[in-house]
Amino acid sequence: MKRTRLFAPLIGTLLAGCLQAKPLAGDVKMNAFIDGLMNRMTLEEKIGQLNLLSVGFTATGPQLNQDVESQIKHGLAGGVFNVYRPAAVRKLQSLAVHQTRLGIPLLFGFDVIHGYKTIFPVPLALSCTWSPAAIERSARVAADEATADGVNWTFSSMVDLCRDPRWGRIVEGAGEDPYLGARIASAMVRGYQGEDLSRSNALLACVKHFALYGAVEAGRDYNTVDMSRHRMYQYYLPPYRAAVEAGAGSVMTSFNDINGLPATGDHWLVTDVLRKQWGFQGFVVSDYEAISEMTAWGMGDLSKDAELALRAGVDMDMVSEAYLKCLPELVSRGEIPVSLVNQACRRILEAKYKLGLFSDPYRGCTEERARAEILTPQNRRVARELAEQSCVLLKNDGPLLPLKKSGIIALVGPLAEDQSNLLGSWRAGGDWRLAVSVAAGISNVAGATVSVLHAQGANLIDDPALRATLRAFGEYLPVDRRSPQETLKQAVAVAKRADVVVAVLGESAGMSGEAASRSRLGLPQGQENLLRALVKTGKPVVLVLMNGRPLTLTWEAAHCGAILETWFGGTEAGNAIADVLFGDYNPSGKLTATFPRDVGQIPIYYNHQNTGRPYRNDPGFKYVSRYLDVSNDPLYPFGYGLSYTTFAFGGVQLSRTNLTADETLLASVGVTNTGQRAGSETVQLYLSQPEAGMARGVEDLRGFQKVYLQPGETKTVTFRITPDDLKFYNENLQYDWEPGEFIIRIGDNSSQVKSASVRWQKRI
Ligand code: NOJ
Repeated sequence: MKRTRLFAPLIGTLLAGCLQAKPLAGDVKMNAFIDGLMNRMTLEEKIGQLNLLSVGFTATGPQLNQDVESQIKHGLAGGVFNVYRPAAVRKLQSLAVHQTRLGIPLLFGFDVIHGYKTIFPVPLALSCTWSPAAIERSARVAADEATADGVNWTFSSMVDLCRDPRWGRIVEGAGEDPYLGARIASAMVRGYQGEDLSRSNALLACVKHFALYGAVEAGRDYNTVDMSRHRMYQYYLPPYRAAVEAGAGSVMTSFNDINGLPATGDHWLVTDVLRKQWGFQGFVVSDYEAISEMTAWGMGDLSKDAELALRAGVDMDMVSEAYLKCLPELVSRGEIPVSLVNQACRRILEAKYKLGLFSDPYRGCTEERARAEILTPQNRRVARELAEQSCVLLKNDGPLLPLKKSGIIALVGPLAEDQSNLLGSWRAGGDWRLAVSVAAGISNVAGATVSVLHAQGANLIDDPALRATLRAFGEYLPVDRRSPQETLKQAVAVAKRADVVVAVLGESAGMSGEAASRSRLGLPQGQENLLRALVKTGKPVVLVLMNGRPLTLTWEAAHCGAILETWFGGTEAGNAIADVLFGDYNPSGKLTATFPRDVGQIPIYYNHQNTGRPYRNDPGFKYVSRYLDVSNDPLYPFGYGLSYTTFAFGGVQLSRTNLTADETLLASVGVTNTGQRAGSETVQLYLSQPEAGMARGVEDLRGFQKVYLQPGETKTVTFRITPDDLKFYNENLQYDWEPGEFIIRIGDNSSQVKSASVRWQKRI
């Protein structure tokens, strides 16, 4: 920990003791420092530390805090968020450091979700890289940039597992699988925080939304969650736990209730699970007004909310000012022990100490540093690579892709020239004017060798009510003033003159993300009409999708020659998409959330249970768990994604077929590139246990490896499997394994695997 400069109000007897004492271990030193500080704090000052103010124009709830500067000067804020840029941060920080009685520095939070100014693909897209290392790198770049601009705390990573694409916030997470979600969660924490939080480029991570927010009923945001403990432990909780074990310094509670109790007031969740079972040492912040919202949940008035949240273990109150307004009286009336306030205050001060804020409250943020470290060509290169790796090739008949760098392309669709929507939701400090559109990317990558004809073809959204709602939230939605028929006719004329049509269609950025649940998951009607008209021309159609959730694409899958899912790819999206379209990058992304055929199949996810009447894709079997009008199978399963080359998997080779207790099994497959291009394949390991004390999922992901193969090359991929990989939560919520038969399944997606069976016994 750096300890070079100490700030005026803190110098003096308070610190003299600790600084002159002989060197103590890190924690002891920190505790002594904080003891000294807290001994001097009044109750009001301690409660002030528990208050987080929203500053600026971004609100994700009905209210913004007022009188921020005056609150800071009176020591009534522990942190602020939505303030960035060195000058703005320095101004507020200097109020805290120089104009309050004790000079305690502020935390500066911000939603740095997928990049700060260099915007990376949205998190759901990043997860499709199946590359924790690359995702960690994106978090590192985001931390470098955000800290250079004065931010020291990010409200990321969002690790809510989700099986329901109606929920708009599926875009912010890593999809439906706990194993992959956990790997990505810890990678992000490592990326943000690095090895040493006190370094000036380390960003304090905040794991959210604790907990189970991705399971809100009917996919409707802020809604209720009713879930068995078993399901929580087995599927939904592992990513949060992984982030905590990776050392995340803070956790944010979620807006939902869990079985009738709002998460923000749930002592079992926030204290028993998070702190006692998992050993979390950092501080807990509520989500935006989630404390005062407990009144609407039916928990009582603001004072009751404050008491519930503090008793549950929530240390910091985001925006609702319930702590500020109610805790002084609750404590003075003896209704809340002061020890609870002390404990929360200490945890927040510890985070500040670990961030090095007491040594350098500005953490070296300067205009020069910001200029040198933000949006560098190197950062943009990382963003381009990640955007390439995030693309998932869903279909490629012919093969139609990659395109030749010659001939005539009709580039059609409301997202073809767009520079704003492709940044996705939560774009932090991202500037759309610096983003590369698909049109610009094609020109950068293919140059003058292709001739590109442009036509918008349709508006992004025609529905006036939806457009008005999105615009009310600041969404940029340009509208073509021509009639839909005219716009479409021009696109069809352009398509007829081209060799191939590239249709760039999808959602607007605001159609996914917070408060963006949808009940229909198709393309907006005007775009669907456009696509049908383009297909009708008989020209080959490549559908390039931008969206933040799995869509229902049954018609598109049947009629377009190729479909490339690009999600919202960030600042470098256009270049990356062009790299993929022209084959400069061979697509390798794999889905991390199942694509349904129909909204009625939702929730749909690969690791479901079998039921007593397992589905068979055979109309002759009526009395099985099935729909009459749609098959149970997804349109595109978890783990799915094509390449411009093809891969063949050999059979699963096992080192043994009978094992005992803590022995290790080696399971291998040979993977051969059987096509004409070099490419990456993600080899996925799933396990299943046909017979156990509880019904198990049909399979569970337990490992994956990416291999890069030249044409004709074969590599053997080996997984080491130990009894730890066999464990699950039993009916008593014990995490253990049961002896018996296990099926080892290895393949290129969850529904296409080669398998082999082993028996594993406990020692007698
Ligand atoms: C509400 C969102 O739920 C949360 O994810 C975000 O971090 C906060 N607002 C702060 O903007």
